[in-house]
Amino acid sequence: MTSLAVFTEHSDLHKRAKQLANHLDLPFCSTLAAYDFLLTLTPDGLSLQKNNEKTKPLYIDFLSGKLTYRTQHATTRNEILIRALGLKKQQHATIIDATAGLGRDSFLLASLGFSVIALERSPIVFSLLNDGIKRGQTDIDTAMILARITWLQTNAIDWLKKSAPVDYIYLDPMFPERKKSALVKKEMRFFHDIIGNDDDAELLLQTAFACATKRVVVKRPTLAGTLGNKQADFSLQGSSSRFDVYLRP
Ligand SMILES: C[S@@+](CC[C@H](N)C(=O)[O-])C[C@H]1O[C@@H](n2cnc3c(N)ncnc32)[C@H](O)[C@@H]1O
Repeated sequence: MTSLAVFTEHSDLHKRAKQLANHLDLPFCSTLAAYDFLLTLTPDGLSLQKNNEKTKPLYIDFLSGKLTYRTQHATTRNEILIRALGLKKQQHATIIDATAGLGRDSFLLASLGFSVIALERSPIVFSLLNDGIKRGQTDIDTAMILARITWLQTNAIDWLKKSAPVDYIYLDPMFPERKKSALVKKEMRFFHDIIGNDDDAELLLQTAFACATKRVVVKRPTLAGTLGNKQADFSLQGSSSRFDVYLRP
């Protein structure tokens, strides 16, 4: 069983950290204790960190150079996810990102002008997202992109079951860990340790099928089979992932 606590060594942040620990039903500590993982609060923000390891802490950073570069160079033509969704420039569309995670795909879609409803069920991931959003909103261009995204902490299966039909649904569930793969960065591996395997991803796909009117797109590792062995109408191959496209109805 993986153990996790909210940690801060900044006395002025104790109150906030304790509130967060309460909200997430996690222990709070102000000195390093023997937990596997720490959700660490500093004046710079909230991060997830493997205790006693020199791995980079995992922040959600919409201002990071890499993400900024990607969004600044993204076009509806060069972004494979947009092609998989069959979206065109200037098109008004709302996409349901049913597995928001670290919010990078939602952010990319919003940077191209699309509206996004981003659903994330893990309260831990959602608190990291909230922290990243707050920091992102301090930059005017980033704030404009973030304003196109509605973030909801919910199980997408429940949300989609109650939703009116939607045009586009995007799924990127966790895939069983590839321990030795160089493609899986260390910080992503421990993200996986916290979240687990998304074992109900097939049910999520079925629910998405029942709700989508245009396309459901599923991101998969290149060599993996299709989710639930459900044959896609077609697939697009990216550098390290494949996008399986299901045309609806
Ligand atoms: C691989 S990550 C997604 C990464 C994301 N595409 C990004 O760009 O950062 C998968 C995320 O989906 C979330 N998730 C999986 N099933 C879900 C569901 N049924 N409802 C909401 N969130 C779900 C997991 O908690 C996890 O944070």
